[in-house]
Amino acid sequence: MIQQINAITPLAEARAGLAEAFDLKFTDAVERETRPVFDRIRDRIPEVEWPFLAPLIFEINRLKREKDAVILAHNYQTPQIYYGVADIVGDSLQLAVEATRVEASVIVQCGVHFMAETSKLLNPSKTVLIPDSRAGCSLASSITAEDVRAMRAQYPGVPVVTYVNSSAAVKAETDVCCTSSNALKIVEAVEGDTVMMIPDQYLAQNTAKKTKKKIVTWAGACEVHETFTAGDIAELRAAYPGARIIAHPECPPEVIDVVDFAGSTAAMIDWVKSEKPARVVMVTECSMSDNVAAETEGVAFLRGCNICPHMKRINLENVLWSLHTGDEEVTVPEHLIAPARAAVERMIEMSARPS
Ligand code: 13P
Ligand code: SF4
Repeated sequence: MIQQINAITPLAEARAGLAEAFDLKFTDAVERETRPVFDRIRDRIPEVEWPFLAPLIFEINRLKREKDAVILAHNYQTPQIYYGVADIVGDSLQLAVEATRVEASVIVQCGVHFMAETSKLLNPSKTVLIPDSRAGCSLASSITAEDVRAMRAQYPGVPVVTYVNSSAAVKAETDVCCTSSNALKIVEAVEGDTVMMIPDQYLAQNTAKKTKKKIVTWAGACEVHETFTAGDIAELRAAYPGARIIAHPECPPEVIDVVDFAGSTAAMIDWVKSEKPARVVMVTECSMSDNVAAETEGVAFLRGCNICPHMKRINLENVLWSLHTGDEEVTVPEHLIAPARAAVERMIEMSARPS
């Protein structure tokens, strides 16, 4: 029996559409213009793929100029996005701060949906596009605005500090946001000796170890980082004697307790660049070591990572498709903009205070 497949994936749709709209040939001009990108990431991608990637990079960069667009990319994006087409890269805090400064008409967010929503909140007159709106986050989907209201009723007067990995609706119920790079600073800065820190139970537990304040949390977790265990770190230490091991604070405390450093994605990059360990394992999303390795000489990056399926929904094909079609535009309901924006802006202001 022949089975007919009717449902075509968005990527297949984008590829078919792209082939009609663009002449994606690996010409001499494409080869010349993309050569610096290739030289930087040649050890990070299979060389046979370059003739297919380079024309996409070339067209994306051309269309960005034509459409007055900039690309904001998170540190977990692939090297071809990070080095090939991104204008601004960074961790969640850096991307939020940079979003406030964008002057171009269009922001293409290469990251997950809450990051695009944050850009829209901070710069609402811009058109914000996400190449695949299904790029979610297990933390953002773990809690609703109603859950936050119920927590407030249970803990009257206790301030709510919400991780930016959350929806605009949840941010709108929040006193102030935080990211992994400023969580402790924000918790210390808010009033009172008890704080609700949601929705990441592990970021909350890791922060609680560094403050005298009482922290009440929520049962959310990052599906990428929650699976790492202290046993994994012990195995990595046995397999790679002498290698330094660093991790993201979304990992459980039993992991953070036994690694050499923990910090946001930007803090991990800075740590590797300043410490220059001979061998390092980055216990986080896999693209991190690819991206740092492409600009760090003399450090061997050993694997101990997981892939974030949401971050990996974004690829060169759908970035080009998004620029070409204007899909998918990210909007935030009017009534949520002011309160959600205030929570993020309060974070940016508190985070910039001298320590
Ligand atoms: P950073 O703010 O450290 O970049 O983290 C974002 C994220 O989603 C990590 O999983
Ligand atoms: Fe969310 Fe975890 Fe993916 Fe970050 S790595 S976007 S926290 S699921």
